Order: sequence, then structure tokens, then C-alpha cells
Amino acid sequence: MLKTHNCGELRVENVGETVTLAGWVNNYRDMGGVIFIDLRDRWGLTQIVIDAEKAGDAAYNTADAARSEWVLQVTGTVDNRLEGMNNPNLDTGEVEITVQTITVLNKAKTPPILIDREGGEDEALRLKYRYLDLRRQRMQRNLTVRHNTINFIRNFLSDRDFLEIETPILFKSTPEGARDYLVPSRVHPGKFYALPQSPQQLKQMLMVGGIERYFQVARCFRDEDQRSDRQPEFTQLDIEMSFVEQADIIELFSQMTKEMINAHSIIPLKAGDIPVLTYREAMDTYGSDRPDLSFDMKLVDVSDLVADTGFKVFSGTIKNGGMVKALVLPGCGHYSRKDMADLEAVAKKAGAKGLAFMLTDEEGNAKGGISKFLTAESAAIFARAGVKAGDAIVFGADTRFRANTALGEVRSHMGAKLGLRNMNELALAWVVDFPLFEEELANGRPTPMHHMFTSPKQEQIPMLKEKPLDVLADAYDLICNGFEIAGGSIRIHNRELQNGIMNLIGMDEEEAHDQFGHMLEAFEYGAPPHGGMAFGLDRVVALMTGEPNIREVMAFPKNQQAQDLMADAPSAVVSQQLDDIHLALSGRALIDQMEE
Ligand code: AMO
Repeated sequence: MLKTHNCGELRVENVGETVTLAGWVNNYRDMGGVIFIDLRDRWGLTQIVIDAEKAGDAAYNTADAARSEWVLQVTGTVDNRLEGMNNPNLDTGEVEITVQTITVLNKAKTPPILIDREGGEDEALRLKYRYLDLRRQRMQRNLTVRHNTINFIRNFLSDRDFLEIETPILFKSTPEGARDYLVPSRVHPGKFYALPQSPQQLKQMLMVGGIERYFQVARCFRDEDQRSDRQPEFTQLDIEMSFVEQADIIELFSQMTKEMINAHSIIPLKAGDIPVLTYREAMDTYGSDRPDLSFDMKLVDVSDLVADTGFKVFSGTIKNGGMVKALVLPGCGHYSRKDMADLEAVAKKAGAKGLAFMLTDEEGNAKGGISKFLTAESAAIFARAGVKAGDAIVFGADTRFRANTALGEVRSHMGAKLGLRNMNELALAWVVDFPLFEEELANGRPTPMHHMFTSPKQEQIPMLKEKPLDVLADAYDLICNGFEIAGGSIRIHNRELQNGIMNLIGMDEEEAHDQFGHMLEAFEYGAPPHGGMAFGLDRVVALMTGEPNIREVMAFPKNQQAQDLMADAPSAVVSQQLDDIHLALSGRALIDQMEE
């Protein structure tokens, strides 16, 4: 090694030793005849002193030329710092190295971002110079927590007889609700591999293969709109087990998650057992199947109180089988029309037709908004919802699903805006008993809420034909502070049932056979009952490190437009490469290519 110690290691006990350190110039100060450099590596900072008299001209001149981010190797003795010069903020703050020799291992241009502090610069600049950004303490800390978390998981699962098995990246479409990334085949003209949206099919095949307990730190690929918690390429801790029931999975992975957070998270776990909510409870109470339980704010059903009101928007909705739900906005009684219009936009984005509201005066009486239509009902509504003087209340009148979802969006928006969210502890919860299909049809067909391999509750299988939307699934999610950090289910392991679900969602026999023939066939050779789940590892680590975006816990993430700004990917290829894979560009792709 080019160093005997790292830059975070030396203490007063080492005083008198001759050591060699290597690292980057974090900062330097020239005090006239004596140069001080903080040398940095992954483990910390050590103060280096180059005294012209002690080190000689050659070493002094080298130090004098050094600038930020130059890579140096220094040899010298460990000394106590002078009286009163200790730095209590540094682990190595009581010592310094009196340099004898100094070698420049590499020079550096002036870095476009500051390394020793957050520069508040544009994220695009950080991503372009990611290799410099990675030198920052924050990124090094995040990647360390990520490593420790994965290491913990590997040990936890290996101790319990799980096998880590890699599954192919070049495979067939595994739908998880996003678009596939396709890879054209050179050898088979016109044919494509699909990068897995998850190893879902393959892990089920491993169960048919008798593996019984599988896990993988698996890369997944999804072409979908980016969000702070979504990347086109991300990592799952993927798990599957044979001969299990939902309760077994919940028990084992509650234990794993708690131990993992307690051992490695910077943000602590909220004390107590992990609550288990049904999907119905979560939707009705919080308007979301991944509610942020770090704050209260519950939705209230006021349908019965407004069923006969003269305000037709409410009474009409209820007559048509809908619901009127309400949400109190604490301390928002002073909200302006503009504030409410902004909030209405949030609700509309979630599919609401509008967002009715009432404000309160100092006495707590209704004013503004729709209060003039609800003079008879407002007192009862306020009593039920717990409206206090100075609060506002908003309403969603729609189908149960839409009223819930719209107010759920308003709830999370306001939770953040009013500073009610608590990201300083991790509030976990299980959500169980999901419907098998989304509450609303897509193109007249049911769509799987989880994925099409999810088992309906056994006793509800007979309802599939008549009332598919009422059938519940053996599916579960683990949520944390409003994020879905894991999801899974007990699977179908029977060919007829799997075929039946595929038909229900609109796949004909031929398509089912082309896409999933291998799986359907495998189910005919003694497939064991099985189930599992997958954690979004990036989300887990982002929550554990208190980061608002999963990009902060990935070494080389893509930006909002799914680009790698450092390497400039995706990028054009030479036409020969396209010929090789039997592709020709057309339309916009061709025009863009020619313009480049
Ligand atoms: P699901 O689609 O719910 O389930 O994914 C599992 C977990 O992966 C994380 N996740 C993502 N993280 C970052 N970027 C993305 N684009 C992204 N999409 C999902 C989430 C999510 O909870 N095969 C099933 C699992 C199973 O049934 O066992 C699956 O992939 O944290």
C-alpha cells in the first residue's frame, strides 16, 4: 500500500511514529514558511504540517504548489498539536504530521464543485461530476450505510438458510406495471430481450426448482416517469420462500427490518410494534395505501350528515352511490381563495372534480366556501371531524375510491406544507388485504393491483367470475413514512388459476402461452405453494440516511430524464451497430440523429 495508515486513524497514542499517508488536499493554509494541509481520504482528515526548516526546500516547494484535490503521499512523524490548537471536531484533531517527504501522486484541475462542503449547486453539475461529488462526506456516508445494510441483509438471510442466486438480466418481459427496456438480438433478427422489471418469474421458477429459500440483491429496470423515489434502474432485495403463508413472511421480515434499522440507520426506528392496517382501513382513514403515519390527520366520512342537504353536489353524489369525505386542515382557517385553488389543483391531479371547503371564524363558526349551503349541517360536520376555531375543512365528493384518493393527496401535501411530517424517525406499517385488482377498470378490464402472479385469498376464488373487483389478494406492502418500501404476495402455483387470471385481465390463450408458457408449464410439474416479497433497497437506504431522493444513495443515478449526465447516456451509436442488430431509425429518432 502507498499508505501505512488512513487519514482518520491517528491518535495521541501514535505520537512519535513515522507514518505514510496518502489522500486528497482538502484545504491548505500558508502561514509563511509553514504550510498546513488537511489531507483527506475515505476515513477522515489529518493535518499535515510542512515546515520549510524541518522538511527542506524540496518538500516545502511541493507543498506550496499543491492545490485543492491534488493527490499527495506524505511521510512524517506523528506529533501532538501545539497547545490550544486541538480540533475537537476531528477524530484526529489532537495530532498532526510533521512532514519529511511529500510526493505528488497526481495533480487536479480546480474542481467545479466544492468537495469539503455542500455548495448548493445545481444537481446536474453534481451528476456530471459524480466522481467528485462521491468524494463528499455525505455521499461516502450514504454508500457506507448502503453497504452495511446489504451486508446485514446477506448475513441475516444466509443465517436462515436462504441462498443468494443471480437471475438473468437478458430475459423476457416481466410486467410490473411499467414499460420494458428492450434489448435487440443480433443473432435473432427482429427478436428482443426485455430487461426484468423484477426477477418475479425467475424467483417463482426457482421455487419450482426446489430452492425453497431464495434472495438476491437484484437490479430491476422500469421505463416509467421518474420521481424522487423512482429510478429507471434500481435495486431490490428480492425474496421468495416455499411452503409459507402471509403471517410467516410478515413475522420474518418485520424482524429483519427492525434489526436492520436498529443496527445501521442514522434515522431511528419509531418505538413499538409495527402496526398492520388493511388496505380498506388505510384508504378510508388516510386516503392512501401507503399512508404517512408520522402524523395524524384522518379522513372522516360525513356522507350520512349531508345525504339530504340542499347542496346538490353532496346529496347527488350520495344518491349515485358515492361518498362525501372530509379532512380538517389544522390552523388553515385564514386560507385565501388562492390557497384553496392551489389545494384544489392537488385534488384534481388525483382525479377529483373539485375540492369544496369551509373556513372558520374566531368562534369556530363556519364561514366562506360552501358554508352558505350547509348552514344546517356544518355544526354536526364540525363536531364529527373535530374542527376547531382557526381550522379549515375540505371535502371530497365522489366514488369512495376517488374521494379517498383525492383527500389522501391533499393530506400528504398538507402534512408536508404544515410541517407535520416527521422524517426524524421511521414509522413502519404493514398494509395487508389488498384487492386483487385495482378499484377502477382500465379499458373495461381489471388490472392486477400487485402483479398477475398474486394469489387471491383462497376462499374468495369462487367470486372471481362474478365479482372480480371484490376479491382480496394475499398481498402485503411494508410502508415507511409514506413510502412503499417493500411489497409482495403469496403466489398462484396452479396452472388453471393462473390461466384464469390471465384471461380475466384480457390476455388470450395465445398471448398467455407466448409470454408465460414456461411458467404455466412449470406449474404442472409439482410447483410448491410459495410467496415472497421485494424491498426497494434504494428507498430503504434513503429513509435510513434521511435523504429526500434515492439518487443520493446511488453511486451513479440517472436524472429526471433518465439520463446519465456523467457518461452522457443514452447516446447515439454508429450505423454499423444498428445494422448488426437489424434496426433502422425512423421518425423523430432519425431526425434527431441527423441533427446531431
Ligand atoms: P414492486 O413492483 O412493488 O414488487 O417493487 C418492490 C419494491 O421496489 C421498489 N421500487 C422502486 N424503487 C426505485 N425505483 C423504482 N422505479 C421502483 N419501483 C419499485 C419499491 C417497491 O416496494 N416482484 C414484486 C415483488 C414481489 O411480489 O415479491 C415487485 O417487484 O420499494
